Amino acid sequence: MTNNEPNSRFLRACRRLPVDATPIWLMRQAGRYMQEYRELRVKHSMLEMIQTPELAAEVTLQPINAFDLDAAIIFADILPPLIGMGLDLEFVPGKGPVIHNPIDTPADIAALRTPLAEEFLGSTISAVKMVSDELAPRGIPLIGFAGAPFTLASYAIEGGGSKDYAKTKALMYSHPVAWAMLMEKLAAVQADYLLQQAKAGASALQVFDSWAGLAVGKQAYQQFVAPYNTKLFETLKSTGLPVINFSTGTFPYLEKVAACGGEVIGVDFRMPLGAAWEKIGYERAIQGNLDPATLLAPWETLKSQIDLVLDEAAGRPGHIFNLGHGIHKTTPVEAIKRLVDYVHERTHQL
Ligand code: CP3
Repeated sequence: MTNNEPNSRFLRACRRLPVDATPIWLMRQAGRYMQEYRELRVKHSMLEMIQTPELAAEVTLQPINAFDLDAAIIFADILPPLIGMGLDLEFVPGKGPVIHNPIDTPADIAALRTPLAEEFLGSTISAVKMVSDELAPRGIPLIGFAGAPFTLASYAIEGGGSKDYAKTKALMYSHPVAWAMLMEKLAAVQADYLLQQAKAGASALQVFDSWAGLAVGKQAYQQFVAPYNTKLFETLKSTGLPVINFSTGTFPYLEKVAACGGEVIGVDFRMPLGAAWEKIGYERAIQGNLDPATLLAPWETLKSQIDLVLDEAAGRPGHIFNLGHGIHKTTPVEAIKRLVDYVHERTHQL
C-alpha cells in the first residue's frame, strides 16, 4: 500500500478510519456449531487439529467461506503455550481443558520453562503463514491471538476452568514474589508467540484476558494483573499491527484495562457498548458486544438486539462488531448468516 492506509474494513476500523460498512467477525467463529467442523472433529482430537497446520488452516477458513466475515482468526487455543512451559494439557471431550499437573507451589513456578514459540508452537505459526498467504489476495485480514497472563495462570493453577478462582487467588495473595515470577514467565512466552504470529503474516493480534475481570476487583487488577498486561502490549508495539485487548467482567474498571494498551478494546455483553466506549475514550476503537445467547432467539428478537448494539456505537468510526463472548455450540448457522449480512446492510454507506 502506498499511502499506508489499510483497505480492509476491519483494519480501517482498528485505526478508526471511515469504512463503507461496519466490519464484523465473531469470537469462536470456527467451531462446533458448523457441520464442516464437526465432521473433521470426529476424526481428530482438538490438539491434533491445532497441531496439524493443514487442518488448522482448513478450519480457520470454514466460517470465512460460509459467511461474509471481515476477518479470520487463526484456529488454535490459548492453552497450548502452557505445554511447552511444562504443563500436561488435555482437551477432555465433554469437559473442556484439563491440566494434569497444575501449579501448586512457588517451586513449581520456578521450574516452569520459557521456551521460544518456534520450539514448540511451530505448527500454529505455520498455519498462520498458510492462511495469511491464502487470504491476502482475497483482502481478508487474519487475526493471531494469545491468552493474557492472568487467564493462563488461572488454568495452570486450577488445572482447568473455575467458578471462584480460589487456588489462583490464594497463590496470588500468599506468594506475591512467586506470582510475579509466574506472570513474568507467562507474559514473556505470550509476547514471543504473538511476535512470531505477526512475523508469519497475521494482520492484527488479539489478547484474551477472559477471566481476570470475573476473578479480581479494581485494586487487585492494578496490583497483580495490569503490570504484566502493560508489558505485553508494550512489546507488541514493535509489530506495528493493531492489537485488540479483550476481557470480560471488567466494566467497573474498564479504564484501567484500556490503560494497559491495545488500539482496540474488546468488551463483553455485560455492559452497554456506548457506556463502555465513553469509559475507554473515543481515541480508541471498540469491539463488541452482542450477547451470543441472542443468536439462539427468533430473528425479530435477534435483530432488535443487533440494532441496540449498533445504536450504542452511534456510527462513530472505530466500531468492530463482534459478540460479547464466544459463539454457543448450539447456534443455528442461519442466525450467523443473518447477523453478518444485517450488520453490513444496516451500516452500508453509499
Ligand atoms: O475464535 C476462534 O474461532 C478461534 C479459535 C479459538 C478457540 N479457543 C478454539 C476452541 C480461540 C480464540 C480460543 C480461545 C480460548 N480458549 C479462550 C479465550 C476466549 C474465551 O472464550 O474467553 C479460552 C478461555 C479458551 C480455553 C478453552 N478452550 C475452553 C474453556 C474450551 C472448552 C470450551 C468448550 O466450548 O468446550 C476450549 C476448547 C475449544 N477451543 C474449542 C474450540 C473450537 C472446542 C473444542 C472442541 O471441538 O471440542
